[in-house]
Amino acid sequence: MTAEILPLDLGDRSYDILIGDSLLTNAAAHMVPVLAQKRAIIVADGNTAQYAPTIQSSLSAAGIAVDLLPPLEPGEGTKDFAHLMKLVDDLLARRVERGTTLVALGGGVIGDLVGFAASVVLRGLPFIQVPTTLLAQVDSSVGGKTGINTDQGKNLVGAFYQPRLVLADVKTLETLDPRQLRSGYAEVLKYGLIDDPDFFQWLEIHGGALLDGDRAARRQAVLTSCRAKARVVAADERESGQRALLNLGHTFGHVLEKLCGYGDRLLHGEAVAVGMVQALDLSVRLGLCPADDLTRLRRHLTVVGLPTGIGNLKDSSWSVETMLDLMASDKKVQDGRVTFVLARGIGQSFLSRDVPIDSLKQMLSDSLNGDQS
Ligand code: GLY
Repeated sequence: MTAEILPLDLGDRSYDILIGDSLLTNAAAHMVPVLAQKRAIIVADGNTAQYAPTIQSSLSAAGIAVDLLPPLEPGEGTKDFAHLMKLVDDLLARRVERGTTLVALGGGVIGDLVGFAASVVLRGLPFIQVPTTLLAQVDSSVGGKTGINTDQGKNLVGAFYQPRLVLADVKTLETLDPRQLRSGYAEVLKYGLIDDPDFFQWLEIHGGALLDGDRAARRQAVLTSCRAKARVVAADERESGQRALLNLGHTFGHVLEKLCGYGDRLLHGEAVAVGMVQALDLSVRLGLCPADDLTRLRRHLTVVGLPTGIGNLKDSSWSVETMLDLMASDKKVQDGRVTFVLARGIGQSFLSRDVPIDSLKQMLSDSLNGDQS
């Protein structure tokens, strides 16, 4: 089946997002037109290196010199200063030039790390995103957010740096661990919650099939998600306004991820799922959102196997004060105030910097104690 092509219009940094199910076998046809030099370096992790030979042979057959770096260790722990330094050293040791293109082959960790390395090596190398997880295909590979985590929190060091191309091949989702797939699904659902109630409803009907392997449903969901993301990024590349809506569930989710240590205890999308529930829960408490919409969100998350609350994750160190403190170190804090994404209902999200602290504390406290609004 032919690829869907979504252009992301950013002036001289515009690029295409290609969505299909046999893109990697034809990688050269898509990539060569955006290469500045007949040289590319593929960076993958232990899970995604399996796709490198397909890309490598396609590019080699087209006369491109391709290096493959030793695969990085899969997992969020790889997105740190130590791995960035090692990657930069490896690239410089291979004598990259300003036209050498990096190919980020993997999920959000690889895309964010390689994109950030691309932004700093020789003051900027071109790079291509080949996202292989649902989360990366619908969110992190599109829009140019790159970076690493630090001890202070997630993605606190990074750059806006756009790729030259995004190749989202939904076939790669077939080897994805089911829990990772579900985690990415939270980001898909997010687009419905933000401003597309029809998509939310479509997901209520087709979400199960999508997770069970229906390739057409996957293509449709990735396409709809990327279309929404491209529209938002084209209008607000550097997040001075509406792009912050894409953080629905993330302000709360990042706190939970930090408390859980960025590991298997809680995956990013699982944290976002709980965070979206908390955002709607707070909206209900503030009298902004019908309680039925929160119920509907919780019901769908439960049907697809995503968490809806903190449950057994917490330990004795967790408190409302710790959570508020972590929220305050979010990079979207402005003049000391956190920007929240709230909702007037499913598909009606908006930004607010005026959340009454008492309601916020009560919601966090109830959510720590497992009490639902
Ligand atoms: N993941 C949110 C954004 O790209 O803005």
